Amino acid sequence: MSNLYSLKAQLPAVFISKSQIESRVNTLAEEIKDFYLSQDDFDNESIIVIGVLKGAFIFTADLIRALKLPTQLEFVRIASYGDSTKSDGILNIPDLVLPNNIINKHILIVEDIVDTGKTAGFLKQYIQDQFNPKSLKLASLLSKPSRREVEIEPDFYGFEIEDKFVIGYGLDFGERYRELDYLGILNES
Ligand code: IMP
Repeated sequence: MSNLYSLKAQLPAVFISKSQIESRVNTLAEEIKDFYLSQDDFDNESIIVIGVLKGAFIFTADLIRALKLPTQLEFVRIASYGDSTKSDGILNIPDLVLPNNIINKHILIVEDIVDTGKTAGFLKQYIQDQFNPKSLKLASLLSKPSRREVEIEPDFYGFEIEDKFVIGYGLDFGERYRELDYLGILNES
């Protein structure tokens, strides 16, 4: 019992709560759905949703269920952070294998956070070049505009935040905290 108690005491402080996330994911899904339903060439075909691992895995899972449109789910893995809170700017691309049946479709990239914008910028360009999509949109749970180095903005985002390192709801620090059901701020003390 005492171990459980001390574990709980060490949990990061809540920055964006579970219920705030839930409600924003639902309204965001409505915005995204409205966009697709307003497209003349959207014939209720599957939207190709490409989640960016690992950080966006929980957001992607919640978003596709809230979207209530047919989707084909794919994942890519791109990592630019090691165990630190600042990107070294080097994109590590261990797995960017996507199937050929996503050529010329409506594609939605799902990110956890757009920080410098390097990851999203690279991925958007790559997908545009390789798959000639009917539409290509970027949805991100979080956006940190003050850190932007690449000119890119998410088409849809959940929350705009200041330059703070956040964890939980899929986001990690050194592979920890992804399982938290809320977003917290890393206490580096
Ligand atoms: P960017 O390429 O600099 O935009 O960063 C993209 C990736 O860095 C994100 O997909 C995250 O995985 C990671 N990242 C950036 N900021 C944070 C943060 O505050 N917490 C956790 N991961 C972050």
